[in-house]
Amino acid sequence: MERNSLSQSAPSTNPEKRFYHRLLSIFSGIPIPVTDMDRRRFIRRNLIFHFRPQTVAQQSLRFTLSWGLGGMAAVLIAVQLTSGILLKFAYDPAPIAAHASIQVMITTAPFGRLIRNIHFWSANLLVPVVFLHMLRVFLTGAFHPPRQFNWIIGLFQFALILGANFTGYLLPWDQLAYWAVTVSTGMLEYIPLIGPGLRNLILAGPHIGPSTLRQFYVLHTAVIPVFLALFMAFHFWRVRKAGGLAVADRDKDKQVPSIPDLLVRETATALALLAFILSISVFFNAPLGDPANPGLSPNPTKAPWYFAGFQEILFHIHPVFAVFVIPLASGLFLLLIPYFPYDDPVSGRWFISPKGKKHP
Ligand code: HEM
Repeated sequence: MERNSLSQSAPSTNPEKRFYHRLLSIFSGIPIPVTDMDRRRFIRRNLIFHFRPQTVAQQSLRFTLSWGLGGMAAVLIAVQLTSGILLKFAYDPAPIAAHASIQVMITTAPFGRLIRNIHFWSANLLVPVVFLHMLRVFLTGAFHPPRQFNWIIGLFQFALILGANFTGYLLPWDQLAYWAVTVSTGMLEYIPLIGPGLRNLILAGPHIGPSTLRQFYVLHTAVIPVFLALFMAFHFWRVRKAGGLAVADRDKDKQVPSIPDLLVRETATALALLAFILSISVFFNAPLGDPANPGLSPNPTKAPWYFAGFQEILFHIHPVFAVFVIPLASGLFLLLIPYFPYDDPVSGRWFISPKGKKHP
């Protein structure tokens, strides 16, 4: 029989910790370990904790170091996967039928509208949250070794998230979706040599049609989620292998146990975020326009908001620069950031300047 770690160890003398232990035990139904030895055994036995360090630097728990953004991205992705699976029960990936199936889902399926709203709002929140996470990693210099490879993995995750948003955009098969995808894939034509071929490959043919919708559906509901899950597992493991978040002067810092110190903070952030998503999903509906009409383009025809920048700069500079040279140069620059020579490769301190020297 599994040994009950609570019964065999002396209870913690710290009342605050005892409270957290009890709270966690009640919610998880798992006897949460109290002594260091039990804690180590508990962590070894639980696969999930192979992704986390047993102890973390106390500084890394300060909300203003990470703003909880990586954890929020992970929560949003979990929400996306769960709500997405539920949506698959009602969605029909064929032109015209797709729009009709969403109509039926939001009017007759139990909680259909709420689940669609949750999926929509968390998807739209995910893009800025991951972007801000990336910005905070950059501004705290957390891309320096030994975290350089995790920066690269993160960039691929960001690309996957944009891909997930873009492929999901077409699925309602309404006027907005149809024409937004027409405009954004049309921009690809400006890429020298490979542009038209790339557009054909993405659309699964020369024009948007049933094959495009099927291809976007498979990418959105199978290929991208699988790769995202694999990259995320790798990302978390790399954070763990690097000894947790980057903090300045780790040697001088106190180590505290991940359970409960980190877990309680993560749970609180996750619950606050879930409450926020739920609130906006109750009050604000995801849009659903008229069914797609290939013969009638709305005026103006707009790309999805996260590609709106490209569409805008197309009006001001040469299209080859807007859709090819600038994105390619920015992507390469981001990939190479960890490998430039630095005088002072400090990690874990905002802006690396004396003024930003808040941690510690
Ligand atoms: C699916 C999207 C992502 C998820 C779910 C995710 C999740 C996380 C989590 C939970 C952490 C630890 C806590 C934190 O820093 O808030 C973390 C750290 C990190 N992430 Fe991400 N991340 C994602 C995307 C990215 C991107 C786009 C980049 C950069 C290009 C990136 C680079 C890093 C690095 C270098 C660390 C270590 C930071 C440090 O040690 O201070 N991640 N990520």
